[in-house]
This record gives sequence, structure tokens and C-alpha cells, in this order.
Amino acid sequence: MESKSRGEKQTAFQILVASSPKLLQQDKGDLWDTGKLAGDETIGTVYAGTPLVSQEYCYWKVCVWDRDGHAIWSHPAKWSMGLLKPEDWQAGWIGYDAERLKLAHQSLAASAEDGKKVEPYLPPVPYFRKNFNAGRSIVRATLYASALGLVEVHLNGHRVSEDFFTPGWTDYDQRVHYRTYDVTKLVRRGGNVLGAVLADGWYSGYVGYAGQRNYYGKLPRIRLQLQLEYADGTSAIVGTGPDWKATTGPVREADFLKGETYDARQELDGWDQPGFKDDNWQPVVTDSEVHPLMQAHPGPPVRIIAEFKAKAISEPKPGFYVLNLGQNFAGMARLKISGTPGQKITLRFAERLNSDGTIYTSNLRSARSTDTYICKGTGVETWEPHFTFHGFQYVEVAGLKKPPTKDQIVGLALSSDTPVVGSFSCSDPMLNQLHNNIYWTQRANFIEIPTDCPQRDERLGWTGDAQVYVRTATLNCDVEAFYTKWLVDLDEDGQRADGEFPMVAPVKVAGDDGGPAWADAGVICPWTIYDVYGDRRNLERHYDAMAKFIAFCQNRSKANSLPPDKYHCFGDWLNINADTPKDVIYTAYFAYSTKLTAQAAAVLGKTDNAAKYNDLFTRIKAAFNQAYVTDDGRISGDTQTAYVLALAFDLVDGERAKLAAQHLVDNIAKRDWHLSTGFIGTKDLMLVLAKIGRNDVAYRLIYNDTFPSWGFSIEHGATSIWERWDGWTPERGFQDPGMNSFAHYSFGAVYQWMVENIGGIRSDGPAYQHIIIAPQLDGKLTAATTSYDSIRGRIETGWKRDGGNFSLNVIIPPNTAATVYLPLNPAAANRISESGRPLESVKGVKLLRTENDRAVLEVESGSYHFVVKR
Ligand code: BGC
Repeated sequence: MESKSRGEKQTAFQILVASSPKLLQQDKGDLWDTGKLAGDETIGTVYAGTPLVSQEYCYWKVCVWDRDGHAIWSHPAKWSMGLLKPEDWQAGWIGYDAERLKLAHQSLAASAEDGKKVEPYLPPVPYFRKNFNAGRSIVRATLYASALGLVEVHLNGHRVSEDFFTPGWTDYDQRVHYRTYDVTKLVRRGGNVLGAVLADGWYSGYVGYAGQRNYYGKLPRIRLQLQLEYADGTSAIVGTGPDWKATTGPVREADFLKGETYDARQELDGWDQPGFKDDNWQPVVTDSEVHPLMQAHPGPPVRIIAEFKAKAISEPKPGFYVLNLGQNFAGMARLKISGTPGQKITLRFAERLNSDGTIYTSNLRSARSTDTYICKGTGVETWEPHFTFHGFQYVEVAGLKKPPTKDQIVGLALSSDTPVVGSFSCSDPMLNQLHNNIYWTQRANFIEIPTDCPQRDERLGWTGDAQVYVRTATLNCDVEAFYTKWLVDLDEDGQRADGEFPMVAPVKVAGDDGGPAWADAGVICPWTIYDVYGDRRNLERHYDAMAKFIAFCQNRSKANSLPPDKYHCFGDWLNINADTPKDVIYTAYFAYSTKLTAQAAAVLGKTDNAAKYNDLFTRIKAAFNQAYVTDDGRISGDTQTAYVLALAFDLVDGERAKLAAQHLVDNIAKRDWHLSTGFIGTKDLMLVLAKIGRNDVAYRLIYNDTFPSWGFSIEHGATSIWERWDGWTPERGFQDPGMNSFAHYSFGAVYQWMVENIGGIRSDGPAYQHIIIAPQLDGKLTAATTSYDSIRGRIETGWKRDGGNFSLNVIIPPNTAATVYLPLNPAAANRISESGRPLESVKGVKLLRTENDRAVLEVESGSYHFVVKR
């Protein structure tokens, strides 16, 4: 519901699902009619009508009755059912292996000959086509598209969608996704052509850091099924099979890590249209190396989400131009050129520059990240690669005959198309830049799965990174569907038989033993997604995996719940000379995951299990205290992270908690008010400072611009979040290129603190049904505006300090209510008003109490303008 009026509420609702738009228009829900149901629940209603079958189209709308009993109908919407049963797939897997096998053979022979490793082959990309005839007039055409590799589907000269990297990344030996496209507008009566381009992608291209390809198979495949429905009620299927033809064309190489090479002289003009002569095209093969489950992709596709034009162009070496696009992001470049036939343009990509102005690429490790375009030489040519991406802010271009113009090479940012749901701006430009850097680092790494980085030869779904960042991710974009997909990679396909969760998901490329704080992603991520969006289904689906993981932790721990003598743990990754004992991390995370599993059990009504896990939590906590905490609140290791974990996960109580909190602050003070935390500690550092009432310290940390701090990177030109606090320093220059990404989101987890404390927006319990609005002021910030489109609607705060006065604009969505904390000046007589009226006379607001330095109000939904005059 959306409404500007105060206290608006849904009092009842009705959902209609119909088999045709016409029936729906007549308010006939022949598939499902809930009838009018009383209640204010607006999310998470699961379809419970007539069982639906493959390919069925469903038309639906919802009616809400508002507070006054008025009925309001939504616009109609539709969905279609996928191919639900294996036998619904009449199309088969096809491929074209000839040139690939030839190259593989040559490269093998070469390495056998001189006995050493040769640069392995990068095969050309195959094109596929099939002519078909649509004999009658079409009412609907639906395309189901999948691949072992990456497929781009064409129909009668058009790409069928703007999606990239279809069908995404899964453990292909277990499952592969397909996407469904309504292509009714592209099919015509008479002759048609369905075509496809197939690249290696994650299936058989280079993935990860081992310099290896072919993780899932050597022979990429496509599977396309086009369902034609005719006006006379009959239907037909056009599917991939032995009657297709294939060849290779202009895409000579295409690989995520290596880049793409395109020879425009080899273009196949008109290949995806009727009338094209394909006599010299070859037959396809019709088998496949794997036989995965076919499932509809549950998440958003990867798309171009923004374009960046050059801000500056330099020429650090003769003939090598460097374009600064102003923002570090992930994607590729679009090139416009009028060249001569065979002219070769080379594009290389980098996040930073060396001191001589050339591009810094040593941190890419074995990722060649080079795109090459060879001109046709017939007027203006425009090209962008479709089967690779890079992480970059700078493009180096070579092979031009004159300097490039600013719009000749444009940066195209790719990301999973997760809707943007957050905004932040305040009176401190550095904090605004920090928000920008966090946002873009998220977009650069949310490409099909949550990755560690988008630039070097890694780009893996690191679980530790994902769990520390997931809550912040939800505040920038709607990532529910995105995570719904990845949680299967992690909790279902990635879990080891003994219950351990992996280091990365999909798991194939790195280890299956994540270790403390990495493996725990298997519990923390599903819990967080439930907690933010309120849909129990992700919990239901993954609860058994969570429970199995806790059993695994129990089994390998000692009888007193403390760690075994040997286990794998990455530790507080990339901290500043402040290693936290791994046993502390182990035990703290074991306790935390146990607590979350207890909460999940409670939500799912598994009361006995909830009690069992709560009891286990209590025992782990006691063991933690006994083993690692002294009576004066010292925690083994005496690091910021040790205190942060104990306080964040409620592992210390009473006097010990107070003392531990003081030790944390003292530790920060001793470092001249700087942090020393790595990935694990940074996640909760600021949130713990808020929790212990020390936002004054949190503000000191966030304003820092000296090493180590968020501001330090910004001081040195960062447009993204760096992997390491010291990725570059004035004294030493770049860190070890072996591990020096400038787009790792982990330290960006601080955005949760910014939204909750500067913006003052927090959920009070699951899914923002009740909200807490409590901006935490400090002496320096004078204004901040923060918004978050929650699952229940937009929440917004905008506050200003002006002289002694404080004003706060708040928007609270319908069907929710909020507790609002207004800061008071204890030394002044505060007068609180709302839109110019004294509080007592304002509808929708109740003053609960005034405390020393704040007034506590309960507020109904709607939009408010509070002023506190001093
Ligand atoms: C990745 C990290 C990851 C780590 C494991 C690195 O190579 O980039 O982000 O969490 O390995 O410690």
C-alpha cells in the first residue's frame, strides 16, 4: 500500500488469480480467489489455488480494504509457469565442438613437443541458427533459454532480451537455470530464424585463481525451446536439436578473465534473419557432459545499469591513451571507431594508475582483462563485448590513429539487476563519497552471485565476505531474489555431507571447508534474508541445512563446546597487526550461529528445537566465558575484534560486559582513535559502539582520514571500497599485488551503521513491521537525509540542526508504526511541534515519555515534520 495520509492500514485483502485477462477483468479468479480476508498482513502470502501446470499463464490482482473500508484494486499483473517436469523439455542440448577440439589438440601437441606449458587455447565462439516457419497467426510465443556456458539468443535479427550471462552460474553438475522470455512481438507469420551465440563463461572458461578452465566441462552447450501458440488454438515447439547448424564468426575469444577478441571482418551479416545462406554452416552435436536439473532462475538477470563517460584522457606513453571514467565499477567498454580494414584496437582495464600515469594491472594477477577489436573498415563501427567483464575505472586504449574523444569509449556498468532501495546524503561530503563507494562496490560484486572482487582472477562467492556484508546489501538494493538464488548454491549445493559449509559458493573452485565466520554464512545469510523481508520460505527451505551445520560444529568441538585442536580458520582477515585468536572466533561464531538457528526454529514453530539450540547457546557462552574472559572483562587476544564479537553476540553479561566495552574503547583510544579490525571485526565494530552507547567513538572513527580508516582511502582518491586498509599508502605505494583489490565490499558493511545511526532507521523485529527512528547526533554533522524502501514501503528521515533547533522529517509506510526518538537539549526548554502545531493536538502521534536527552513518541504511518525548538 502507498498512502500519504496518517495511520493508513489495510483492514482486509483479496487476491484473484485468473487464467485469462478477460476473466480477471470480470473479477473472476477461476484459479484462485481468496475471498475477502481480514488482516493487515501485506507480504508473504503464498499461492494456494488450483494446482498450476507447466507453461500456464496466470493473471492476478489484489484488492486492499483501507482503514475506512474502501476497496482499492491493484493493476493487473501476470506470471507464467516454467517447464516444471523434465519431460516438458523437448529441446535437447546442442553444441559445436569442431574448432574447440582442434585447438585443444594443437595446444596439447605443442606442450608435448617442447615439454613446457603453453598458453592454453581460447576457442572461437560458436553461432547457431535454425530456420522455422510459423504457418498461422501467432497469439503468443514463449522462449525458454538455457546453456552450459553463456548464451545470447537472437530471433529474427534481434537479441531477445537485454540480459547478460544467461543462464548464470550454478553447480552445473547438479542444476542449471533457464530464463523465460515472452517473444510474441518478435515472431512473425511465415519464415523466422532462431539463433544463438554461446561462450564458455563459468562452465568451461577460466574461473578463479588457479589458472584453470573447464571446471564443469569442456564442451559448452545450449538448450532453447520456443513455444508457439496460434490463434486457432494449436501450438508448436521449435527446439534445439540435430536439425540446427553452427559455425564460428567474429567473436574469436571470449572469457571472463582473459577478455574478448572481436574481428569485425568475420561478421556473419544477417545470420539471425531469414534468407541467410547457411550452406557452409556445420552440423551440431547433440549430447552433453552433464545432466543437471533444469530450473527457472529465481534471481534477477545481469544487465547494464549505468554508463560512464571519460572525465579525463591522458597519454602516458606514445600511442597509449588512458581514459579516467571517474568511478571504479564492473562491466566493459563500448568502442566507437572509424578504422581501416584490419586495424586492431586493444583495450586494457585497471582500477588505479601507476605513478607515471600508466595503468596499474599487476593486482589483476593472471586475469589478462584485455579486449581487442579488429576493424572492418567500413564507416563508423560500434562494439561492446557481451561475454566478459572487468573491474575498472581506467581504460587504456592502443591502436588508434588519433587521440580518442571523450565519448568514443564509454564505460558500461554491469550488475545483477537488483532494484535500488536506498539513498543517503548528509552535510559531510566525505561520508557521501563513502556511501557512493559502498554502493558501487556492491553493484560491481553482485554479478549473478555475491563475489569478493570483480577484477582479478578470483571473482568467487566467498562466504565470509557475503555474511559480513549481507545486511548492508539489503539497505542499498532489494536483494531478496538475488540471495534466494545464491542460498541454494550455498546451503543446498554447497554443503558438505558432514554439514560443513564451504569457503565459496558455487563451491567447485575453492575449498569445501569454510571455517569459522566463513561457513557460518550458511546460517547468517538465510536468517538475514528472512529477517529483512519476512518471507519464511527461505528459512523453511534451508532450516535443515542450518541444523546440520550446528550438528557438525557440535561434533567437531570438544565435549565442553570449545574448539578442537585442529581446524581451518581464516581468522580476522586483513586486520591491522591485531590477530584475534582463532579459538575466540571459532567459539563466538559457533554461539552466534546456534542462536540464529534457535531463532529460525522458533519462527518455524519448532519449539523443541528452539529450546535445544537456546540451551546449546547458553552452554557455548559459558564455555566462552570460562576459557577466554577474565573477571575484569579482558578477552583472549585483547583485540578490538575479540571485544566486538563478544559484545555483538551477547556472550558477556553484566559487569564483564561493561568492562569489556571499556576495554574496546580504550583499545581504540590507544591507537589514537583508530580501528584495527579486519573483515570479521569491522562488520560489528560500529554497531557494537552504538550498542554500548559510544556513538561518540563511532563518529570519531568514521570521520578519520588517516590510516587506517574509511576516510583514508577517500583521501587518496578511492571511488570504491578497498580490500585492504592499506591498499595504497603515500609511504609505500601499492600493497602486495598478490592480493590488492580495490573493489571488495567487506569494509563497506559500515553502511548498516550509517543507516541505523546517522539516518536513524532501524527495524524493530522482523521485516520493518515496527520501526525505530532514532538519529544519533554528534557535534559535527548538521543534516542528513536517508531513505530505505522496505518490504512494507518507503521509510525516510531527513534531519537538520539549525542554530539550537532540530528538525526531523519522517515518512513511515502504511501498515506499520514507529517509535520516534527526538533528541532534546537537557539545558534548554524544548518545545516540540509537528508541522507547526503543538504535539498534543497532532493526529497519529503519541508522546510516550520524555527522558533526559530525548522525547519518545509513538507514531502511526504517514509523513511528519517535527521541530524541537530550544
Ligand atoms: C578473497 C577474500 C576471502 C579470502 C579468504 C581472498 O582471496 O578475496 O575476500 O574471504 O580470500 O580468506
